[in-house]
Amino acid sequence: MRKKIVAGNWKMNMDYNEGLALFSEIANMVKDEITGQQQAVVCCPFIHLYSLSQLAKGVDKVAIGAQNCHQKESGAYTGEISAKMVKSTGAAYVIIGHSERRQYFGEDNQLLAEKAEAALNSSLKPIFCIGETLEERENDSYFDVIRTQLKEGVFGLTESQFAQVILAYEPVWAIGTGKTASAEQAQEIHAFIRNEIAENYNQQVADDTTILYGGSCNPKNAPELFAQPDIDGGLIGGASLKSRDFLDIVKVFN
Ligand code: PGA
Repeated sequence: MRKKIVAGNWKMNMDYNEGLALFSEIANMVKDEITGQQQAVVCCPFIHLYSLSQLAKGVDKVAIGAQNCHQKESGAYTGEISAKMVKSTGAAYVIIGHSERRQYFGEDNQLLAEKAEAALNSSLKPIFCIGETLEERENDSYFDVIRTQLKEGVFGLTESQFAQVILAYEPVWAIGTGKTASAEQAQEIHAFIRNEIAENYNQQVADDTTILYGGSCNPKNAPELFAQPDIDGGLIGGASLKSRDFLDIVKVFN
């Protein structure tokens, strides 16, 4: 049975103390309110990783993740942080290939394949993001775009490596815009992704892969999205900065 996951992506928000306060609220609520099999992940800025990992130790439904890592293990890369360093904080996950990394930092599929491999080599679970732009949606090239992102980004991994990967389908036109993909649009792509996994690996691997939806997901639309057979949770930006909203989304699986 594949895991149901709701992952928050704080992006470049929350100074040190604000982050601790928000996470304390989340951890308290999770303890009291989450009873099912779902897993919450909080992907925070690097400055919070160690402290939140310490706080999360006593809360078994919440894990901590980073939002990026460098592809090399160490060396002269001023300002960068390796997967090994992220792992040493106690974090368990790392977002790789978020569309903002692709767009603003020029990260392409080849680089992201290296980052995914680096994360796995340090025993971090990559939350690997894929998704089309508005232009690609409108000119109907989105299936090809997603197929290429998968092929070049993660399908070079061995089957046992890929088993550690969580995929996140995030249509770029839905991120931070308030425009969610409809449940049907999202399900169509998630089913397509699962089929691509089956063709590249096998049906069992496809059935076991957690595929998250991301892009303006909130407590109102999450129930319909998460009810789709191939949607296994969400990657949540804006709504993850409000503890109540984030918890309400996590609780959709209860
Ligand atoms: P959003 O962001 O929920 O604010 O649209 C999602 C994401 O970028 O992961």
